[in-house]
Amino acid sequence: MVKHIVFAVSSMAVVFQLGLFVYNFETAEWRGYQSTYYKKLAEVTNTPEIAKTSLKVQQVWDKDLDRPDRCTTCHGGVANPAFEGEPQPYTTHPHFKDQAFISKHPFEKFGCTICHEGSPHAVTVKATHGVVKHLDRQLLTGPYVQASCTKCHYELLNRDVYWPEAEVLMKGKQLAYELGCGACHAIRQFGTSPTVAPELSNAGSKTELSFSLVHDFSNLESEDHLMRVWEWEHFKQPRKIVPGHPDAPNPKDRTSPTIMPNWDLTDDEATALTVFVMSLRDPAVENIPPSYFPKVKEHEGFLQYR
Ligand code: HEC
Ligand code: HEC
Ligand code: HEC
Ligand code: HEC
Repeated sequence: MVKHIVFAVSSMAVVFQLGLFVYNFETAEWRGYQSTYYKKLAEVTNTPEIAKTSLKVQQVWDKDLDRPDRCTTCHGGVANPAFEGEPQPYTTHPHFKDQAFISKHPFEKFGCTICHEGSPHAVTVKATHGVVKHLDRQLLTGPYVQASCTKCHYELLNRDVYWPEAEVLMKGKQLAYELGCGACHAIRQFGTSPTVAPELSNAGSKTELSFSLVHDFSNLESEDHLMRVWEWEHFKQPRKIVPGHPDAPNPKDRTSPTIMPNWDLTDDEATALTVFVMSLRDPAVENIPPSYFPKVKEHEGFLQYR
């Protein structure tokens, strides 16, 4: 009996020690970034006291979406134009200066993950960047962030609309119209409804898990088994990614390679089309609170998707 108690107590102590170790390790990382940020801020503003600001996890608590965004724990300078020349994670957010478009989405209201996806809770570099296993919404960086604009700006998928702020998405949309994706795929946003190929209308709101259950990643070149990587490689070489099983031993199991055409797309075109596919959002899944929508007067036809 005594032995058991001793054993139980000592195993609890080990678990506690381990927990403390992990906790310290994770805390040290963001504390390092944050204290460097305050040192830089103290210099920029010529106010030495700022360097001694006590460190804590920063977050934008989004009441409507009921989630915290903790990115600013490390990305302290995103809303400070004076940090333009600083390295990541301190630098000013792109398109922030001179009241550019990002300033129309105040971070204290919008947070970060509404555009960038990723983990709203995590406070380590590893758990927020790159490929994060088991995360259903991976961090969007570079041009891929433009796949989020349509969560609110539905009119962007209207053929006549061109926004330079979402250049890659605009290119993808244009290609999608020109190459006639709607001839095979149902795309609600384009008003097409054929049934020869899977519907794409809500493709951008799928989770990594639901996608991975019905897609074969074994023919990918990349080791990053993500939805957007599958789509990108599928645009480059549809029949390499979906070769079917024309030689299956049992005739009943034989399937043909995909009929999706290979257009010899450039890397940039494949990226643009991937951004376009990921921008096809399901409003019911995104569930953006009405107070986050911009006021749109034109493009009536597109308001029905709200
Ligand atoms: C623990 C500190 C930390 C946290 C928390 C953090 N970041 Fe970062 N971030 C960094 C560092 C360091 C870099 C630069 C090095 C790198 O790319 O890994 C970076 C780079 C980036 C980049 C540019 C990377 C690229 O590939 O272009 C983006 C975008 C970004 N972070 C967004 C976010 C978002 C959104 C969140 C919240 C979901 C977040 N970060 C949370 C530290 C952090
Ligand atoms: C309205 C949408 C939106 C919101 C909100 C937003 N971002 Fe971004 N962010 C973008 C876009 C678009 C880009 C890509 C810019 C580009 O590549 O030109 C970007 C790029 C970045 C980069 C990469 C910069 C680089 O040099 O590569 C970082 C870091 C970043 N965002 C962090 C954040 C953080 C932290 C927040 C929250 C405080 C945030 N973003 C909120 C749209 C947004
Ligand atoms: C969560 C909803 C939401 C998301 C996501 C979003 N925006 Fe916005 N956007 C808004 C709101 C709200 C405004 C302010 C409109 C107003 O002032 O009436 C706005 C304004 C703008 C404006 C100024 C246009 C104007 O009519 O004033 C531009 C440009 C813009 N957004 C581009 C983007 C881009 C590019 C992205 C994707 C990287 C994006 N937005 C993502 C909600 C959003
Ligand atoms: C000739 C018909 C045809 C055309 C045109 C076509 N596709 Fe496809 N596409 C298919 C078929 C069939 C599949 C299912 C088999 C496969 O994955 O290749 C598919 C699969 C896809 C998938 C994977 C969807 C999923 O959930 O499995 C995406 C994304 C896609 N197509 C996007 C596009 C885009 C964007 C265009 C226009 C640039 C386009 N397709 C044009 C026939 C077509």
